[in-house]
Amino acid sequence: MGEEVKEKVKEYYGSIAKRANGSSKISCCSPSSCCSSSCSVSDNSMIYSHEYLKGLPAEAVNASLGCANPLSIANLKAGEKVLDLGSGGGIDVFIASKYVGQKGYVYGLDMTDEMLSLANRNKKKMGITNVEFIKGYIEDIPLPDETVDVILSNCVINLCESKEKALSEAYRVLKTGGRLAIADIVALKEISEDVKKSAEMWVGCIAGALPINEYKSILSKVGFKNIEISPVNVYTKDVIENIKKGKNIKGIDLNVDISSLDGTFAGAYIRAAK
Ligand SMILES: C[S@@+](CC[C@H](N)C(=O)[O-])C[C@H]1O[C@@H](n2cnc3c(N)ncnc32)[C@H](O)[C@@H]1O
Repeated sequence: MGEEVKEKVKEYYGSIAKRANGSSKISCCSPSSCCSSSCSVSDNSMIYSHEYLKGLPAEAVNASLGCANPLSIANLKAGEKVLDLGSGGGIDVFIASKYVGQKGYVYGLDMTDEMLSLANRNKKKMGITNVEFIKGYIEDIPLPDETVDVILSNCVINLCESKEKALSEAYRVLKTGGRLAIADIVALKEISEDVKKSAEMWVGCIAGALPINEYKSILSKVGFKNIEISPVNVYTKDVIENIKKGKNIKGIDLNVDISSLDGTFAGAYIRAAK
């Protein structure tokens, strides 16, 4: 699929960002809500507890497209430098900025112009100065080696075709002793070729999901240590059906047998160290 997938992903998330406003929740991996299995909820209470969302504007909270809360495993400290891969509307960047404080700094990296504009509008509303959104690809991070203490990401690595390139870039920009704290979709069972080829399922964070062992072996190959992957919510066939229906990408209508996917995917927490 090559560049075609990247362009579909950009087009899809660009259109989501354009629709985002403060009063309604935008959708990602389901037509109704988020990437989590709790897709029927219309707020983020299933992903982020009140403690994390306190002080964030509705526009930033409603722009959340993640599958879990990577901040809950990041253990951020005042003064740390953080990079969020695929920062979208910026929710995890804004939460991180509260924890690292004025002496810390948070970069959000995204390839989609509309998402960067949305994030910058949210930043302006919040009036914060310890945050910067940068344009670029996760597979080619525009930062020097050993720049950040912590790498966050939420429901994004599954969208990259070259996970090894993305994770080796994450390793490169992480300081020695730094940590990776991400949420992502993983595959718990084998994925059929139909699903792998479906662009709908790619933008829905499903087709590109890696089996846990493969994810671990890539992390280890690029240099990470102390790798832990913990699935936290398993996708039912109803959730996947909603994702498929919600994509509605013109010109693509592959017949994916959804019932065979019941329990195939899960949102997971991924931790590792450099
Ligand atoms: C599912 S959304 C998640 C957004 C955000 N992390 C959140 O939790 O709300 C995926 C985001 O990753 C970005 N993205 C996907 N693939 C990317 C890549 N290869 N390089 C940079 N950004 C990418 C998309 O533009 C989109 O904003």
